[in-house]
Amino acid sequence: MKEDNHHIGTALTLARAAGPLGGIVSMPGDKSLAHRAALFAALAEGESQVANFPDSGVTRAMRGALASLGVESSLEAGVLRVKGNGFRPFPNTGAVAYCGNSATTIRLLAGAVAGTMSSAVLDGSEGLRRRPMGRIAEPLRAMGASVETTDGNAPLRISPAKLRDIDYDLPMASAQVLSCLQIAALGADGESRFSVPGPVRDHTVRMLSAMGANVEDDGRQSIVRPLSAPLRPLRGTLPGDISSAAFVFAAAAIVPGSRVTVKGIGVNPARTGFLDVLSRMGAKVSYALEREEMGEPVADVTLEAAPLKGVEVRGDLVVRAIDEFPALAAVASFAEGDTVVREAGELRLKETDRIDAIVRQFSRLGAQVEEFPDGFRIRGGAVSGGTAAANGDHRLAMSLALTGLRADVSVEGAEILGESFPGFAAMIDSLRAAAE
Ligand code: S3P
Repeated sequence: MKEDNHHIGTALTLARAAGPLGGIVSMPGDKSLAHRAALFAALAEGESQVANFPDSGVTRAMRGALASLGVESSLEAGVLRVKGNGFRPFPNTGAVAYCGNSATTIRLLAGAVAGTMSSAVLDGSEGLRRRPMGRIAEPLRAMGASVETTDGNAPLRISPAKLRDIDYDLPMASAQVLSCLQIAALGADGESRFSVPGPVRDHTVRMLSAMGANVEDDGRQSIVRPLSAPLRPLRGTLPGDISSAAFVFAAAAIVPGSRVTVKGIGVNPARTGFLDVLSRMGAKVSYALEREEMGEPVADVTLEAAPLKGVEVRGDLVVRAIDEFPALAAVASFAEGDTVVREAGELRLKETDRIDAIVRQFSRLGAQVEEFPDGFRIRGGAVSGGTAAANGDHRLAMSLALTGLRADVSVEGAEILGESFPGFAAMIDSLRAAAE
């Protein structure tokens, strides 16, 4: 029997790669889409069935919060089934809904609670309680919602109130904030308009329009009209998660001679920034069998390793790769020259302050990293190994672990990766086996 090439207990150590990684793998369904599918199914009339639904900490948070509000779901063999309650007050109005570590859950659910004139207390883990909620509470209040924060954070107390339409320019390029407001606007008394300063993921508009809502989005501006008919239930298969696939691509980019294909991942242009960065660094990225699932573009994506050069990442590319900067830090650690990330201040507001955490934790492994208020610089070629800490951040855990493919690295607190990609280490190991 083949032994596992990783050890995970309190700390995760991936074994060094003895040779190139290779193989063809599939990913669990996309988390961003899964959150929306579970929530919108709860707001639809009738039973939704969604296949390839991922079972991880953050999707359990959404399902658990919906269950507290009175909408149960089942998940068997990857198929999520939800009997919708319709776009009306949640059955357990006034309940406390615990959103775990999931900012997407609390922010999107806040829009649904306000939009359906429900009342609820939305709370979460210590980590979630540190994430800013004023960014949703203020515009929701401007729509007439009754939302109390706890000094700008969770717990949030939302009471029933009639919503009016709004014309709102988001000060930050956040899909969570935009989605929260778009969902709430379905219950407003007129047409709402939102504009964003960057190309945020448009999953909410794609999915809601497939369910019959009258919503539009041209990338910078979106228009949401109040629901004039019930949302239709969802049927379909979620595309694989490009943000989890990012760790497989990063692994293949780091280990010379590797070639991996990830089948059936979502390639919404608002999510492919990391692949663009990897190809600018020199890796060979190709898309095949482009198709559509649940209104989203899907493809089989292959990455072939090649010598990597440092690059500069700023502007729209930051938003299009917003969750992938920890993975980029791992790849940049093995590139020739400097990788510079700027205009990425939003990274300080993620699961942890990701700029500070990347700088401190990659430095512990020997990397030469410099911190900027809005980004960081990594000089490639310096990682020597050691022990680093995940800081309660699932993506940081996996990214630090990946450096272990080329150095002796142990990551403390790595079990947090179960929040998003419980099969991470086993999948990396399966790529070694395929190449042997
Ligand atoms: C998400 C939007 C992004 C992203 C998060 C998921 C979403 O957050 O970082 O992982 O599903 O809408 P922001 O909207 O705060 O940038």
